[in-house]
Amino acid sequence: MKTSTAIIYVDPASRSPLSMETDEMQGQEVWRGHLRNKEGMDFPIKDGIPDLTYPRQLHRRDEHARSFYEGRVEGYEKNLYLTFHIQGENEETIRNSMIDSLGLNPEYRVLEIACGTGRDSQLIAKRLGPNGRLFLQDISPGMVNFCRSKLGTVSVPTEYSVGNACYLPFQDRYFDAVYSFGALGEFSDIRRSLSEMVRVTKVGGRIGVGDESMPPWLRETTFAKILATTNPQFMAEIPLKDVPIDARSVRLRWIIGGVFYFLDFTVGEGEPTAEFDLEIPGPRGGTLRTRYEGQLEGVTPEAKKLVQQAIAKKGTSMHKWLDAVVRDAAKRDLGT
Ligand SMILES: C[S@@+](CC[C@H](N)C(=O)[O-])C[C@H]1O[C@@H](n2cnc3c(N)ncnc32)[C@H](O)[C@@H]1O
Repeated sequence: MKTSTAIIYVDPASRSPLSMETDEMQGQEVWRGHLRNKEGMDFPIKDGIPDLTYPRQLHRRDEHARSFYEGRVEGYEKNLYLTFHIQGENEETIRNSMIDSLGLNPEYRVLEIACGTGRDSQLIAKRLGPNGRLFLQDISPGMVNFCRSKLGTVSVPTEYSVGNACYLPFQDRYFDAVYSFGALGEFSDIRRSLSEMVRVTKVGGRIGVGDESMPPWLRETTFAKILATTNPQFMAEIPLKDVPIDARSVRLRWIIGGVFYFLDFTVGEGEPTAEFDLEIPGPRGGTLRTRYEGQLEGVTPEAKKLVQQAIAKKGTSMHKWLDAVVRDAAKRDLGT
């Protein structure tokens, strides 16, 4: 990792800055060293790659993923083409179409989470130039090392790290785009991971994620049962309820023979807003906000009938009539 990258990494739990200690340099790269948080917790840098995995005692699902992939890097790279082949799809075309949804420009800062052997990483790298920045991370050190050797020298400055998708070790609002394919269903806390993706992405930035999920209308078919017998992950639900409230312009599509989903969205801030104060024409009147925020107690059916007659006679709306009457009565009783 480059010395200048140290300030982009933060403590994955507290998000406070880390200090760096260098034991060995290779050219511009810190080859061996340490990143440390304020409490002295150590995140080693080994062969130029920092390991920011948190927590130390991983959730059993994340621990399983780490050891499962750690022993299968070469096999994964050799056989992964099958996922696309079985569905009669061209892997590069599909991967490029997912990456298209990020709307990258060559100067973007991009994070790919769970990069694996770098099959998407190399396509993302091609779209970025020397003024962009690409961060590639995975929980398996073997995967990250393989990815780095696959990419070799690319024109975009690239940083590799080992870490847990549920606790991202990056500054708030640093990236223009965050991407992850084929891993979400393995994360121990998908909700947390999606919220971390939003935290590290600029407002207006793009996020794209995808993984296995058989569409509901195919779940009872032989087609689905055959696929799910070998890979039960095909029966995973799309984590729609875990999408953060900050997501805007959310799009969902099924890809790779229609058995994987891809979800992309733009990052906003907090809840969406709308024109809640627009006057609504008609006898009820008021606005969406007065109807929600201005509710008082109910009245008797006789009183309601009388009011309806009164507003019909006056040619006003229920909202205007009630607002004036309640306001006048309250002022009178308050003596103001
Ligand atoms: C099926 S592979 C997908 C790799 C790559 N994205 C691709 O499309 O070929 C899943 C990857 O997710 C990584 N992974 C699983 N759990 C993770 C976690 N909690 N944090 C980061 N990476 C994780 C694994 O190490 C593995 O490399």
